[in-house]
Amino acid sequence: MDRLNQRKALAAAVNAARAAGKLMRANLRETKVVNFSTQHDIKLELDVRCQKLIERKLAAAFPKIALLGEEGEAGDADADFRWVVDPIDGTVNFTYGIPHACVSIALQARSPKSRSARVDRYETILGVVHDPFTDELWTAVRGQPARLNGRVIHVSRRQKLAETVVSMGFAKTRETLEMTLPHFNRLSRRVRKVRVMGAAALALAYVATGRFDAYIESGISLWDIAAGGLIVECAGGKFWCEPISGHHRYCMVASNGLIHRRLPIPR
Ligand code: IPD
Ligand code: CA
Repeated sequence: MDRLNQRKALAAAVNAARAAGKLMRANLRETKVVNFSTQHDIKLELDVRCQKLIERKLAAAFPKIALLGEEGEAGDADADFRWVVDPIDGTVNFTYGIPHACVSIALQARSPKSRSARVDRYETILGVVHDPFTDELWTAVRGQPARLNGRVIHVSRRQKLAETVVSMGFAKTRETLEMTLPHFNRLSRRVRKVRVMGAAALALAYVATGRFDAYIESGISLWDIAAGGLIVECAGGKFWCEPISGHHRYCMVASNGLIHRRLPIPR
């Protein structure tokens, strides 16, 4: 994809993210229709509606590019290019009226040799994360600096673990919860604070902005990390992930790079 198309793709992703964000904002305090729920997860009718809206916006700009989203696929998601979309990241927060949730959209290209931000032999070439409740929009294009609302951002420069704020996610199953809790327990004694905020893509954007020093989760899905992982890298941080069993599931650690090797990997 050449530079011109890259710019067009970024504009399309921003436009789609803002449209979905508007729908989220309008519905935060409304009663939500739950399509499906488990002990640690909720799926809303609005998740699907937001994804459909994003799909329409992206397809209007790039009719041939497939989409792989949390709420399903459109086109051939194994094609050379694909959008990777989480229409609402932080659905449980959103359901409870907690204004900490976002839209995450990445564009990936098939790249057998890719090293960083590597997911399924695809490389993320651009990423957008939008928090409609704070009106914050993070963008990154591979090879360029990450930006928040247009301003260049950088990860934190904290090196002392005792001064860091590390965020963690427990994913959605009893298994990932049990696997992560001992690390949570140990780490919370070594860092200033551990935060569990419930929206992984936003946590990655916070790492990129220097608000968090790291984010750790096992059992996370591709659509939660594709855009945010690139944003962390473009902000000078380190993003590591490894596939685990399950549908597009990963174990991941993102950080400012300086504390990376002292962080646990829950697996
Ligand atoms: C979830 C959230 C949560 C994280 C889970 C994700 P969803 O995404 O990001 O913080 O721990 O792994 O799946 O279901 O709200 O889109
Ligand atoms: Ca979601």
